[in-house]
Amino acid sequence: MAFAHEIEDKPVNARLLDVDLVIYRTSEGISVARDICPHRGTRLSGGWMDGDTLVCPMHGLCFDHSGQCTKIPSIADPNAKIPPKMRLMSLKSEVRYGIVFACLSDEPAHPLPVWPGIEDESLKNLYIPSGTWHAAASRHVENFNDVAHFPWVHQGTFGGKTADPIPPYKVEKTDYGLSFQLPYLEGGNRFPDDVEGSERQVTYTYQLTLPFSTIIIIAPNDSDYRQYFADTVCPVSAHETRIFQVCTDTTSDPDADFLVKESLLINDEDKPMVEGQRPEDLPLDLTEEIHIPADRMSVEYRRTLAKLGLGAPMAS
Ligand code: FES
Ligand SMILES: [Fe+2]
Repeated sequence: MAFAHEIEDKPVNARLLDVDLVIYRTSEGISVARDICPHRGTRLSGGWMDGDTLVCPMHGLCFDHSGQCTKIPSIADPNAKIPPKMRLMSLKSEVRYGIVFACLSDEPAHPLPVWPGIEDESLKNLYIPSGTWHAAASRHVENFNDVAHFPWVHQGTFGGKTADPIPPYKVEKTDYGLSFQLPYLEGGNRFPDDVEGSERQVTYTYQLTLPFSTIIIIAPNDSDYRQYFADTVCPVSAHETRIFQVCTDTTSDPDADFLVKESLLINDEDKPMVEGQRPEDLPLDLTEEIHIPADRMSVEYRRTLAKLGLGAPMAS
């Protein structure tokens, strides 16, 4: 995965589940393939673009958007036939909401997320510079869907009072995954809606598209302002995760300086907590950790991942 805006006139390397990929842009759009030249295994991300073709840096073979080799410079005859099997291992990919999603299998196991607000073309999306966490993707996603840590971990940003309990809430199963709603009294006032106050009562609506994509719709109760904050992750490796976040709000011109800075601060608050969690794999056997009532979502997430067979094999 990558942000589409990062793919310009040079091929870029990305890693998904320990598999090296090359992402490149042609006039047909963005293409994704294994980062291996079919000729001698050289990394294509070390090459360059020549117009609409990706050039391997080793012997200069050229590949088009579909991965087919279109030119072998060391063959003198310009009409020589290039074997069809001289092609890249191209992946199914799609750019959605400015993010390049790629699939290592022939058919995706889950549909891509549909994000309200982010998909609204009348609103302007902001992209938070992506970071890499040394943690499992599911650990990050569980943390992103946990409200009980706000007053403890996010004291420096929007966290509320540590004494405020988390009310009971229901987790709904949907066609895309899981959803829940929760009222919360935020410390501070981070919304550009001209409502005064040193705290703000909001309602959070979480929508988690399995396995790793979440949007939070943040609705202050006393105004029409809405903020949409989406998060999806690339499992680079079992314990390394690249974070992609897109946000927008109902102002016609979201405050990029504030929202990007605030989001990076919030991520910096979460990161050491999640990177330090042990075991590094999210325990999908519910007897392995002790749960509290606020964990309703995390318990449901673990159960769902276990049902999908997405967990690490359990220790015997
Ligand atoms: S290894 Fe890529 S062109 Fe030879
Ligand atoms: Fe957090």
